[in-house]
Amino acid sequence: MIRALDDRGGTAVTDPAHAARAFRETYGREPRLFRAPGRVNLVGEHTDYNEGFVLPMALERNTVVAAAARPDHRLRACSADHGQEGEVDLDAPPGARRGSWLDYVEGTARVLEERFGRVPGADLLIAGDVPEGAGLSSSAALEMSVATALASLAGFSLDRRALALAGQAAEHRFVGTRCGIMDQLVSMLGQAGHALLIDCRSLDTRPIPLYPERAAVLLFDSGVRHRHSSGEYNVRRAQCEEAGARLAALLPGVRALRDVAPDALERHASALPEPLLRRARHVVTEIERTTLAASALSKGDLAGFGRLMFASHRSLRDDFEVSVPELDALVQAAAGAPGVFGARMTGGGFGGCTVALVESGQAEAAGAAIAKAFATRFGRVPAWFATRAADGAGEITGWPVPDEHQRGLPPGS
Ligand code: GLA
Repeated sequence: MIRALDDRGGTAVTDPAHAARAFRETYGREPRLFRAPGRVNLVGEHTDYNEGFVLPMALERNTVVAAAARPDHRLRACSADHGQEGEVDLDAPPGARRGSWLDYVEGTARVLEERFGRVPGADLLIAGDVPEGAGLSSSAALEMSVATALASLAGFSLDRRALALAGQAAEHRFVGTRCGIMDQLVSMLGQAGHALLIDCRSLDTRPIPLYPERAAVLLFDSGVRHRHSSGEYNVRRAQCEEAGARLAALLPGVRALRDVAPDALERHASALPEPLLRRARHVVTEIERTTLAASALSKGDLAGFGRLMFASHRSLRDDFEVSVPELDALVQAAAGAPGVFGARMTGGGFGGCTVALVESGQAEAAGAAIAKAFATRFGRVPAWFATRAADGAGEITGWPVPDEHQRGLPPGS
């Protein structure tokens, strides 16, 4: 049996009927239900905010929001995972950051209101099974599930790109991470059975088929938890911007590192002091790797795709310096495991997960071998699981509504 990451056992609150029941118990009325997935990025790391390409897929794991409008302009939110409640008065000016999940909820609501018009107050119950701090974008899943819920309650049309951009802005302003657009966009636009090639300049997307009958996607949790807002992420982004600005002053037509070809970078290497040169080298080679990887995958060349995953990891480790020994060990173990096409760290880095693409028939054996090698070195067995590409965010319909609680009617009426 392939083990589950962070397996909670019992009935998950992310089960729609269970989330609805928890909402009823908390607020005494019927909710509508919405979901948005986390993501795993297959290749194209730290390229989104350099206006380059990324190739993520949406996970089968979600944040679920049970929601019902209120007559006033307040958000009451309850996080089943944190066992916490919070309240936001949208008529009052925003206060200081709390450093908690409520910042994402408040930020998303306020940015939606600025951009699309008044959102109603709402009662929200939030539950998720995207592990936090594991590089699988639980933050974007939270923003996009709340955005989908509030936009639907407000009657806004669901322009998926616009909602993704609103979530990104919320994270910049209300959380303090200057993230790119990858996570929010794939959480909104993911397609089952496909990875999504995203041009982070034009926001055009192209679904690229994965081959579930030929290859499994395995995730391994290093157990090392990161926090982007703690600073290193923003430092990397500032270094990339600085490198881009220096090259723009020398090369006509350059607006961002996206516009710099790897050979042009090497010709102008003397313009960039360390560590800017290595940061830029990662970005420009990673953008090239991502487009090559998308064409390899389109052609069904899984071995070629896998080689690019390994190369991506080396570049993130040596040039971008966002890996940690636990992630390196998981990738190294994957390189020696049966049936593995490729592996790399995934997400922002400094902890979280690695992703491996493995021949379907070898998934069990490869997973066990990688986990064993890790356990031998670090003295603990890492959680790992197989995942498939899922659809992006939406309303959950068709969940069972018990007779005594018809939708829209308060209990007892
Ligand atoms: C985080 C950010 C993304 C992206 C990745 C690194 O997940 O939220 O925008 O920059 O890191 O590729």
